[in-house]
Order: sequence, then structure tokens, then C-alpha cells
Amino acid sequence: MTTTATTTGQRSVGAARTRIEGLEKVTGRARYASELPFTELAHGWLVLSTVARGRIREIGDEAVAAMPGVLAVLHHRNAPRVSIDYVGQLGAPDPILGVFQDDRVPHAGWPVALVVAETSEQAREAAEALTVEYDLEPHDSVFRADHPAAYTPEAQTQTKGDLEAELAASAVVLDASYTTPEQHHSAMEPHACTARWEDGRLEVVDSNQGSMWVADELAKLFSLDLSAVRVRSEHVGGAFGSKGVRAHHVAAVMAATQLQRPVRVSMTRRQVFAATGYRSPTAQRVRLGAAPDGRLRAFGHEATSMTSNVKEFIESSAGYARAMYPADAHHTVHRVVPVDVPTPTFMRAPGEAPGSFAVECALDELAEKLGMDPIALRVRNEPEVGPVSGLPFSSRNLLACFDEGARRFGWAERDPRPRVRREGRLLIGTGVAASTFPSGVAPSTASVTAEQDGTFTVRITASDVGTGARTALSSIAADELDVTPDRVHVRIADSDFGPAWVSGGSMGTRSWGWAVMAAARELREALPLAPGEIPEGGITVRTDTARLVAELAQKERHSFGAQFAEVAVDVATGEVRVRRLLGVFAAGRIINPLTARSQLTGGMTWGISMALHEEAVRDEASGGHVGADFAGYHFAANADIPAIEADWVEDPDPTDPVGIKGIGEIGIVGTAAAIANAVWHATGVRHRDLPLRPDRIL
Ligand code: MOS
Repeated sequence: MTTTATTTGQRSVGAARTRIEGLEKVTGRARYASELPFTELAHGWLVLSTVARGRIREIGDEAVAAMPGVLAVLHHRNAPRVSIDYVGQLGAPDPILGVFQDDRVPHAGWPVALVVAETSEQAREAAEALTVEYDLEPHDSVFRADHPAAYTPEAQTQTKGDLEAELAASAVVLDASYTTPEQHHSAMEPHACTARWEDGRLEVVDSNQGSMWVADELAKLFSLDLSAVRVRSEHVGGAFGSKGVRAHHVAAVMAATQLQRPVRVSMTRRQVFAATGYRSPTAQRVRLGAAPDGRLRAFGHEATSMTSNVKEFIESSAGYARAMYPADAHHTVHRVVPVDVPTPTFMRAPGEAPGSFAVECALDELAEKLGMDPIALRVRNEPEVGPVSGLPFSSRNLLACFDEGARRFGWAERDPRPRVRREGRLLIGTGVAASTFPSGVAPSTASVTAEQDGTFTVRITASDVGTGARTALSSIAADELDVTPDRVHVRIADSDFGPAWVSGGSMGTRSWGWAVMAAARELREALPLAPGEIPEGGITVRTDTARLVAELAQKERHSFGAQFAEVAVDVATGEVRVRRLLGVFAAGRIINPLTARSQLTGGMTWGISMALHEEAVRDEASGGHVGADFAGYHFAANADIPAIEADWVEDPDPTDPVGIKGIGEIGIVGTAAAIANAVWHATGVRHRDLPLRPDRIL
């Protein structure tokens, strides 16, 4: 074996590779956050508020402290103080992170205590026995768009031209309102972490979307130097926006500090529903005005979402059209309604997922009114530059997606008339919708080490939430080092590796890829070295992409896609079955076709789920959920998923060193609209409220 990089002539980027850790995962050898063993491990069990608003009057901690195995009961009267007056990597924290700081309960699911015991069973038994008495206050946990408290947050309106005047002058006008319900991430692996003090450092073994994100916020919460905190997150069983810093982290650190023992806190499925964020329900009004040839003269989108009374979170559904459709008058605005509920958060394709449902259904309705093919309407309104920003696109291959998708789906043979295809008691229809998601990049640091044995070690605080990020980074490093990927070891998700972007915003692989590429390139320039020239410990090069990212020219950077659905609607039961789903995407250079296809079909599967099943229902009386589990919260199961095909057209981003755009979220964008449009084509009835439940179809 040689210690120098040698030309392989092979490229790893673009080659289908199975996940590096795949075998470990499927054989159960991969250890997740709540499975790693620690000596002297104690177990914490969270107690969450069952009421929606009030004050804690009494906590029966003395009775519980005497129960078998109980080590501590933390609550607002005895917990250490933390500071939530800070700004983290993704903004100001949700005040829910200030756990056990006072007697106030601003919403259901608010943490009121942590019971710590020798075993998880003892902690659970004691937690369930803990009595908490509240002084109740009246609450309002019901979202509605006309709520008197609704307001438009600062900088959430973008206006060009006179919307009312253009609507009045349009030959064809559509004014329609759409709703989407509260939806939950509910990753397969519930939130869990273990905190301990080791040689004067706080160590947290976790399941998260960014170990530096969590480390930095824990340091700020507990007034520690960042160098005194280490967070690791080797394997993550799904995250989708919900796995940032959460109450269980704070509670675990408090207990580990007090007991000077490792403390693990795992959430139950119900706690995940109650206290880890969710997608807000939305109410969206779309107003379109078009010339007889389909050209848009007026585009209006007003999107209202729900937030808590402790923090403002905006589900930015009205952002969707800003990148998609030009019009002489273009008006998009977000409104929020604060009520007594937990704060919503990012959930896969935040904004774009519900926003695309409203806009892509509205375009279908407009096409019907115009007597135009829905794809032709989109072609007519394809912009040269950003519809609102006026900036050039880095690349925009949306029409190529429609072309390729239409060819493969057989769109040309489609009879545009609704309700004319019948198979027994089934009505058959097809529908189409566009997709987009922004493509971003953020500064990251990475190091690459040339080892004495001829291998290379990449270190970066990336997180692999199941996407195959680790494998993608090994492909990028291998190509830059000009070696086969088996010679590259990628170590991720350890905050000691330095600052890096989180696995969020479809920006992970792109942001980390830059840093890894830059470090590998610099290292390669320092090579070749003859065997034996590499000192013990290897040669390490470390880079930071802050300058590269800052120098990036201003452009509209987005991934695009076209989604095609065929549905069968049972007129006797109201059941909708998706028969075929095809997505064709223009989403930058695809690093690993195998895992990329999984990402895209995973998003599309979620889109089917969003269209037909998902809906979290809040009980007005308690402010909490009805059926906060996998029996009560319906989502697509295997039997609901037909042949799904995802593919892509050539679309390397010319402004990205690797050509990446990001594929994490676009798969769910537009799917629900394509299905709803197909249901109209099948039945002749427009359904504007998700999910398309049988009782709504009938
Ligand atoms: Mo994603 S919702 O940016 O984790």
C-alpha cells in the first residue's frame, strides 16, 4: 500500500454506494443514543403538564422520593438555574428549554418534573405516581385564521405591483382557500440523550441534527465554556427538523450535575408528540388572475399558521411562490395566530410542503378555468429570473422535469375531462404539480488526515440522520484525494470536530461537502509523500469555508421537480388510493443515486401520507392531543404505497464546487397537490382541506 494519493481513474461521486454503516444498522450492531452502555447509569423520566395553562401549586415529590430506586425529583423549586437569554445557531431558543425555572405552565406538554431512578422502570413508575396540582387558568388552544390575535410578523410581506387592480383587470380569476392540519415528525427513534461529567467536561451522547448546535446551546444554557461541552450523535433514527435542543437535554444535564452520575432521559412516543415540535396547521388563501393565454397578471398568497404564546414560529408557506411564479402584481404574506399550544418547529420542507399544496392546487384550478393543460399553464409562466427577487437562477431545469415526467407518465394521452374514467366503483384520475426547495450552503469546518497506513480520516461535525450523509462525504473526499472510498474513513457528529452546519434546510451534504473537499484538496497539494514520510499521528489539514460561503454570488438557488400521480377513488367508501407516483427532479449533482433515490421516494411517501392520512387533533378541553401515538396518528404504511418512482435530470449547480443543490426536503413538496389534483380529475370535485379523508371525499 502506498501512502501517496494515486490516480484511480474512478469517480465515487455519482456512483451508487450502499451506506457505510448499513450492515451495522441492519444487524442491530449500530448503537443508538439510548442503547449505549454507561456504568452507574441513572434513568430520568420526564413529567409533562397535562393542563394547557396555569401555575403549579403543589408537587408531591416527597412521596415519590421514597419509592424504590428513586434518586432525585427535579422541579421548579429545586432545579438549578439556567439562562435562556441567548441566540443559538438557529436563533433564540424556545422558552421550553428553561425547564423547571418557575411555576408557570403556558401550554400542555410543558415539562414540570424529572424523576431520576436506578432503573428506567423505577423512574417511570415514580413519574407516573407523581402528583402535580395546578391552579388552572382559562386557555385557548384552537387555531383559526380569523382569530382576533392574528398578526403579520415583521418582514413577512413581499409586495410588487397592485394586486387588486391586476385581479380586476384579469380575464380569469381564482380565489380559493386551502387548509392543512397539524402534522408531526415522530421519527422512528424517539428523542433520547445521556449526560455525564467526565474529567471536568460535560459529555452528552445524543440523537440530534447537529452536535455543535446542541453543544453550543447547552454551554449557553448552563453558562459553560464551549470547550467544556462535548456532544456526540453517532446514529440517528430520523429527525426531520425535530432533533435540535430539547427539554430532555436540559433535564438530563441538570440531573447528571446534581447526582454526579450519567443520566439518561428517553422520551416516550407520547412525549415526542407533546414536546418536540410539530408542523403548524395552515389556512391559506390564494388569489390568481390570468390573461386569456394563461399568463399570470396577479398572484396573491396569504398564509396563516399557528404559534405558541411563548415563541413566534412562522410556517413560511407563502415563500413558495416567490421562487416559482411571476406576475405583474405579486403579493405574499405570512400571518400567525398565537394560542396556548407548544411552539411548532421546522418539519421536512417547512413552508414549502403546505405552501405547495395550496399554490399547486390553485394553479390546477386556474388551468381548468382557462381550459388549459396544467403543464402548459406552468410553461406559460416559467420565469427568466427570480419572480420577486429579479436575481438570476443558478440553474432552473423545471421544464425539463415536466418534459421527462410527462413522457414517462404518459401525460399526452390524458383526457382532461374530470369524472369520465370508471373501473367498477372506482373513479380514476391523474394529476400533476411542481416542486421546489431552496438550495443553501452554510460555513463548516472539516479536517482530513493522511494516516501512516495509507488511509485517510475525515472529521466533521456532520450528522447522518439516516440520509446517507456519511457515505456521501466519503465519496466526495475519495474523489478529491483520488483514492477509492474504502481508503477514506469518515468520522462525524462529534462537537469536538469543530463548528459545522446542521443536517437541516437540505443544506447538510452541500455545506459539509465544501469543507471536506477543501480540506482534501489542501491535503492533496501537500502530498505526495514517500511511504515513511508520514509522521506518527498522520498529517492533518483543517479548513473552514466561511470565506468561500461569504464570497458566493447572489443568485436564486433552488432544486425543482415535477410530480405526477394517479389515483383511484372508491365512490362507495370515499377511500383514495394512490396507484402511481412519479417524481422527476432537477436537484443538482446527485452524489449517490442509491441513497438519493431513497431520500426522494421517502419524501414522496410522506407526501402521500400528508395528502391522505396525517392529522394531529387537539382536544379543546385539555389543549393536548387526541391519540398521540401510532394508532391514533395515521400515516402511510406499506400497503398505502404504490410503485413510486423518483428520478432526476442533469442539473449540476454551476455555482457549487461539487454541483450539489440538496435533496433532503424537495421530495415532499408538491406531492399532496399532485394527488389532490388527481382526485379532482377522478371525481370532478375540488378538495381544498387535507387530509383527503374518506368522510370528506363522500
Ligand atoms: Mo429540516 S425540516 O430543515 O430538518
